[in-house]
Amino acid sequence: MIRNTNQLFTSKLPDIGTTIFTVMSKMADEYGALNLSQGFPDFAVSSKLIAHVNNAMRQGHNQYAPMPGLPFLSESITNSLADTYNWNGDKDAEITVTGGATEALYSCITAFIHPGDEVLILEPAYDSYIPAVRLCGGVPVPVQLNPEDFSVQWDKVEEALSEKTRMIIINTPHNPTGSIWSKADMASLEQVAMERNLLVLSDEVYDRIIFDGLQHESVLRYPGLRERSMAVFSFGKTFHVTGWKVGYVVAASELMVEIRKVHQFLNFSVNTPIQFGLATYLADKKNYQNLHVFYEKKRDLFLNRIAGSRFVPIKCSGTYFQLLSYDAISDKDECTMAEYLTKEYKIASIPVSPFYTGQRNNHILRFCFAKKDETIEKAAEIICRI
Ligand SMILES: Cc1ncc(COP(=O)(O)O)c(C=O)c1O
Repeated sequence: MIRNTNQLFTSKLPDIGTTIFTVMSKMADEYGALNLSQGFPDFAVSSKLIAHVNNAMRQGHNQYAPMPGLPFLSESITNSLADTYNWNGDKDAEITVTGGATEALYSCITAFIHPGDEVLILEPAYDSYIPAVRLCGGVPVPVQLNPEDFSVQWDKVEEALSEKTRMIIINTPHNPTGSIWSKADMASLEQVAMERNLLVLSDEVYDRIIFDGLQHESVLRYPGLRERSMAVFSFGKTFHVTGWKVGYVVAASELMVEIRKVHQFLNFSVNTPIQFGLATYLADKKNYQNLHVFYEKKRDLFLNRIAGSRFVPIKCSGTYFQLLSYDAISDKDECTMAEYLTKEYKIASIPVSPFYTGQRNNHILRFCFAKKDETIEKAAEIICRI
């Protein structure tokens, strides 16, 4: 036990505690609640994918992989990006495999943000962006999404820009709200980013989970954006392996040189046999092409089963999260309500308020439907009793 931490160090993030995902998952365990809080699947991973990793280990692929990623995996990624986004970049210079999307985001922010640089962050926002910006001495500038439908308010983005703005961080499909960007949003982004000479950090980890026949608008589809953007992806989301923590970042080679300077000292390289397994599995298009159909069925099952409840769903066009408003049920703030439902009704969700910098209380909770159908049915039964 250190008696006087004051003299020993100064915290760089004094106001940051444990993430809400960890807090709610722990509470779900403690109270034996159904866990629809943290975003992870409760169903089995493909046995083929496991076998590919297993084979790679048995064949002796157990030492350091090359720093930018296994060439075989970069090749599979290139083919999947060409197939999906007509991407025709340089597989050796423009892709880096990272320790999950989290490491990619951190490396991109660290590579480019200097003390005093401002970074626009659209709120509610995934919780890793702001601490990473602050650790670089950067200044996060929050811009609220429209509280009605969580679309981008471009006039508010314009108002938040300054001489010091260096980067904008975007996320579509969006965690926690399930909203997505339209072509018009991408056109506005392209215009702002080019006029103001901004870097764009585009968190696209749910790129393959998009519903109702809509198309994911990747920065990789837009030449004006591509040259100034870093697009971040995660195998955890695409192949139901969140615990493997493997992702990748795609960026122009000039940007990638700088990103790799951080990556090589943060992580150096990523788990070799898992990269082999992912490369083989990703090479077969069937393994990712229908992910949206799989999750759309789960979203619809959840919505169908909670139709008679007092919760009101907010439109979810992508991701595996459904927001539910409890305006008609309680005045409790979101954190208190999430805690109350976990303890009293044995169902864990995530309050949306911690995804904002300032105080917020919209009476909305986030439920993860990346679950077996029977888990979804059980959860819906509980929700209908509340
Ligand atoms: C929007 C968003 N970005 C990044 C991540 C982190 O992904 P990974 O687990 O690959 O680090 C997540 C995980 O939940 C996420 O929801």
